[in-house]
Amino acid sequence: MHPPIRPVRSFVRRQGRMTLAQERAFATLMDRHGVPAEPEAVDLSTLFGRPAPALLEIGFGTGEALIDFAQRHPHWNVLGIEVHQPGVGRLLNAIENLALGHVRVHAEDAVPFLSQRLRPGQLDRIHVFFPDPWPKKRHQKRRLIQPAFIGLLCAHLKPDGVLHLATDWEEYAIQMAEVLADRSELVSENNASPFTPRPPERPLTRFEQRGQRLGHGVWDLCFRRRLDADDAPVVRLAGD
Ligand SMILES: C[S@@+](CC[C@H](N)C(=O)[O-])C[C@H]1O[C@@H](n2cnc3c(N)ncnc32)[C@H](O)[C@@H]1O
Repeated sequence: MHPPIRPVRSFVRRQGRMTLAQERAFATLMDRHGVPAEPEAVDLSTLFGRPAPALLEIGFGTGEALIDFAQRHPHWNVLGIEVHQPGVGRLLNAIENLALGHVRVHAEDAVPFLSQRLRPGQLDRIHVFFPDPWPKKRHQKRRLIQPAFIGLLCAHLKPDGVLHLATDWEEYAIQMAEVLADRSELVSENNASPFTPRPPERPLTRFEQRGQRLGHGVWDLCFRRRLDADDAPVVRLAGD
């Protein structure tokens, strides 16, 4: 028997410097605002203690967009996933300081969480803003937005749910558009075009501001899961 194949990771675990406040938040607040290890199958109404529309943001970085959404939507359940610990610590502090009791954080790789733990069909919105572009050809297999991953996201979107992607890397934007166009259950919110003008409710993220300073463009892609789409089979990722 072969040992399990390690899936390709979309991130490098950078240690990054945690401020004391972020370290303390990580050590003390994760129990209150994190996703517990049990039960294995995650039901969002149970996790948040109430049924409500649900947003998942993958790779929230330092959390600006997620915090902004949570403040404007107190009646939603808001879940963020991020592997970069200083960003997680920062978000945990914001949850406490702004009393955002409807936000939960998972500090692990989104891929195994979505393929093995989160019960499918529970999300009204999924945001993936400025996923690492991995510009070098030999690294492009690490890009998060690939057919299998989008298949997985489709399985988690409710009918009429929205998937919103953004990138400042043109060639990645084209790849995103191609991958989304291949999913018959998704339709662009902007009719014939895969790209939409930046929705005013998406705040500037830190990564985006860096891109702006470097003169990069920005591409937003908002796709809705068709009401009449058949349930999409979950696509297993290599190594699952
Ligand atoms: C380029 S940054 C963008 C951060 C933020 N969205 C922004 O716009 O400022 C991409 C983020 O995605 C996170 N990330 C990449 N792959 C991930 C994965 N599989 N699961 C969770 N987070 C991931 C990285 O740690 C990183 O913080």
